[in-house]
Amino acid sequence: MSTIDKDAIAGARIYNKLLLNNYDFWVHRINTPLLWHISLDEMKYLYTTHISSNHLDVGVGSGLLLDSVEFPSSNPRVALLDLNSNSLNFTANRIARYQPELYRANALSRRDIKQCSIPRNFDSIACNYLIHCLPGHMHQKAVLFDNMIQLLNPNGVLFGATIVKDGVDQYVLSRVVNSIFNSLKIFSNYQDTTNTLLEVLSTRFQKVHVELLGCVALYSASKLKTI
Ligand SMILES: C[S@@+](CC[C@H](N)C(=O)[O-])C[C@H]1O[C@@H](n2cnc3c(N)ncnc32)[C@H](O)[C@@H]1O
Repeated sequence: MSTIDKDAIAGARIYNKLLLNNYDFWVHRINTPLLWHISLDEMKYLYTTHISSNHLDVGVGSGLLLDSVEFPSSNPRVALLDLNSNSLNFTANRIARYQPELYRANALSRRDIKQCSIPRNFDSIACNYLIHCLPGHMHQKAVLFDNMIQLLNPNGVLFGATIVKDGVDQYVLSRVVNSIFNSLKIFSNYQDTTNTLLEVLSTRFQKVHVELLGCVALYSASKLKTI
């Protein structure tokens, strides 16, 4: 197993039932507005803008945003992919009304994803609050985008939000907490910046939007570049 694989597993391991039961409150009601300086409504707006009725969510956590978003149709296809079965089961129960497809895989591993034998590609894929948890620098993390591209329909959109170093550096408390989370390997974002995110997306997609709100880079990307 490579160091990246080991670090990916370490980043996902913390999501046990106790944490997931308290995740909405601590992450979305406390940390998101007070530490990362973005509102839950702004995050919900990102979802509302880009979600389709044929959607894959990657790195699902507690599934708050999936649960609260309004899908364009009443009977969407929703698939969940996560390395941690606690996150998968927690979110699957929460959105059981959509009868989600579940895939347990490391989103950084092409082999893992192939083994999931996902039957059809998606019109939208969200990787929300995932990139700052992934090990390595942005070019290593971009393997995630390469893997997701394989699962995205030609007119599909990839979107999400991630906490970046240039955002965090604007606020003392955010910088302190971010560095504690990095030392605990909960986050791995010392080398993530808005510009490197823009760069890795722009080399893969024709239409890219990256916007820094507080400490969080919100992104969306569509129209794959043909090499
Ligand atoms: C911070 S939570 C994000 C939750 C949710 N998307 C949100 O916006 O609140 C990160 C999730 O990503 C999962 N995860 C971390 N590393 C992963 C990897 N390499 N592959 C797949 N899932 C991963 C964790 O298990 C966890 O469920």
